[in-house]
Amino acid sequence: MIPPVLIFFLSFLCHAAIAGRTCPKPEELPFAVVVPLKSSYAPGEEIVYTCQPGYVSRGGIRRFICPLTGLWPINTLKCLPRVCPFAGILENGAVRYTTFEYPNTISFTCNRGFSLKGANSAKCTEEGKWSPDLPVCTPITCPPPPTPKFAKLSVYKPLAGNNSLYGGKAVFECLPQHAMFGNGTITCTEHGNWTELPECKEVKCPFPSRPENGFVNYPAKQVLYYQDKATYGCHDTYTLDGPEEVECNKFGNWSAQPSCKASCKLSVKRATVIYEGERVNIQDKFKNGMLHGQKISFFCKNKEKKCSYTEDAQCIDGTIEIPKCFKEHSALAFWKTDASDVKPC
Ligand SMILES: *[C@@H]1O[C@H](CO)[C@@H](O)[C@H](O)[C@H]1NC(C)=O
Ligand SMILES: *[C@@H]1O[C@H](CO)[C@@H](O)[C@H](O)[C@H]1NC(C)=O
Ligand SMILES: *[C@@H]1O[C@H](CO)[C@@H](O)[C@H](O)[C@H]1NC(C)=O
Ligand SMILES: *[C@@H]1O[C@H](CO)[C@@H](O)[C@H](O)[C@H]1NC(C)=O
Repeated sequence: MIPPVLIFFLSFLCHAAIAGRTCPKPEELPFAVVVPLKSSYAPGEEIVYTCQPGYVSRGGIRRFICPLTGLWPINTLKCLPRVCPFAGILENGAVRYTTFEYPNTISFTCNRGFSLKGANSAKCTEEGKWSPDLPVCTPITCPPPPTPKFAKLSVYKPLAGNNSLYGGKAVFECLPQHAMFGNGTITCTEHGNWTELPECKEVKCPFPSRPENGFVNYPAKQVLYYQDKATYGCHDTYTLDGPEEVECNKFGNWSAQPSCKASCKLSVKRATVIYEGERVNIQDKFKNGMLHGQKISFFCKNKEKKCSYTEDAQCIDGTIEIPKCFKEHSALAFWKTDASDVKPC
């Protein structure tokens, strides 16, 4: 007699052997799709793995049939990204990349003096091609520069046919009587244009006026122009205050306006003074007086400390102030010690 439980069990076993077990939802593989995708499959049902666009299969099997055991076989299929052609070098430029695989993007820059023709980045497509096409770096050039009015091109060396390369320079000069405003040297920029052109303008200066107690010479012309020169001089005993030669500057002014300054007569007859760092006798060195601008140092006594110090005096247009502390000694007062012979304080 067979127990009913066993019968039940056997019949179940029998059924399972004939019908088989159902397979579960298949294992998910990276970058792969399963067709058809269901939560369970009857034994004998077929599934196919395909790689997603941009990925290619490597190894393993793509097609499976649900076995009677209800267990999908172990799948060793791999879906690997497509690899685009090597694009790691850009002549006269640089490429930034991590890998050349789908779906990565690489980017491009050109070296200084070169400009990018094309897109500054490209993507590796599903088909394993770069899109858009890879760019190139071409040298930056500037066309020959225009010459400003009243100017002439004095230096220009095109290195790219008639054109200049990036960083190339051209130098302009103004025609005579014209002054330059702006920079006379222009440079070919990274935009393929030149830096700002200078301007040349005609510049006139008024006739320089004659200084009092002196004279001025300038070219005998109707009009004085930029860079014309005038020279100044002074009559006897007068000294020129300013440069001997002045020039008409670009602002229509003279570079300086010199004048003639009077010499100084000295009330002091005898003294040892310092002039240009040396001890001199005032009566020898300045017997004809001092010229405008000359400076001397007088010796004075500090009575309490019994020492000497100096004070400066300068001839300014006919006037010199002798320091109050200075005491002049008569040539006869030989027993008195001059301040210049006393030790310095
Ligand atoms: C340079 O310019 C000259 C005169 O304009 C022209 O005849 C010549 O074809 C140019 N050369 C080049 C390389 O462009
Ligand atoms: C003029 O420009 C050049 C570069 O193009 C520069 O080196 C120079 O210092 C400039 N000169 C002046 C006076 O600005
Ligand atoms: C040169 O070209 C750049 C870009 O187009 C522009 O910004 C610049 O003003 C131009 N320079 C001159 C001097 O024209
Ligand atoms: C030119 O000279 C005049 C008179 O001496 C003066 O007023 C003016 O400021 C000067 N201008 C320049 C740019 O030096």
